[in-house]
Amino acid sequence: MLSQNSDGPRQVQIDYFDGSSRTVDVVDREVPYPDGKLIVSRTDPQGIITHANQAFVDMSGYTKEELIGENHYILRHPDMPAVAFAGLWETIMAGTKWHGYVKNLRKDGAFYWVKATVIPNVRNGKLVGYTSVRRKPSRSKIAESEALYATLK
Ligand SMILES: Cc1cc2nc3c(=O)[nH]c(=O)nc-3n(C[C@H](O)[C@H](O)[C@H](O)COP(=O)(O)O)c2cc1C
Repeated sequence: MLSQNSDGPRQVQIDYFDGSSRTVDVVDREVPYPDGKLIVSRTDPQGIITHANQAFVDMSGYTKEELIGENHYILRHPDMPAVAFAGLWETIMAGTKWHGYVKNLRKDGAFYWVKATVIPNVRNGKLVGYTSVRRKPSRSKIAESEALYATLK
């Protein structure tokens, strides 16, 4: 954390698993998950975004052009513990489906919660990438996840 002022955005440095880092503006404002929408993205085996649907564009605040070719970690919120993603990667690299609740960071610094399922895409026995489908999470699961992640930070 670099600085905090009372109502403006907080500037937070995020260090990624691959050794890169960036400073993001974080504001304490939730954008509620829209009813009846599925947010879908696909990545290559390294987690680089190869496909984003319109709901993903709308909720993340990035254009499709900004998302394609970026690492999926650009959505990482500083409140998310690293162990949550370690569990995700361990599960999907083993070829299994992963379910979890994720707090995502929008381009404008606000956040949105999702209930995510990540599926390994296998073609002819070869892992070619991953698909993530998100649905609207219940308020009780959001509260539970928030409390759990706070203890894991
Ligand atoms: C298909 C797929 C979707 C993902 N979706 C998200 C996401 O919505 N938000 C997020 O923070 N990380 C997501 N990740 C995990 C990121 O790749 C990354 O592991 C995470 O943001 C933490 O960053 P780090 O591993 O560099 O610490 C996704 C990974 C895959 C393979």
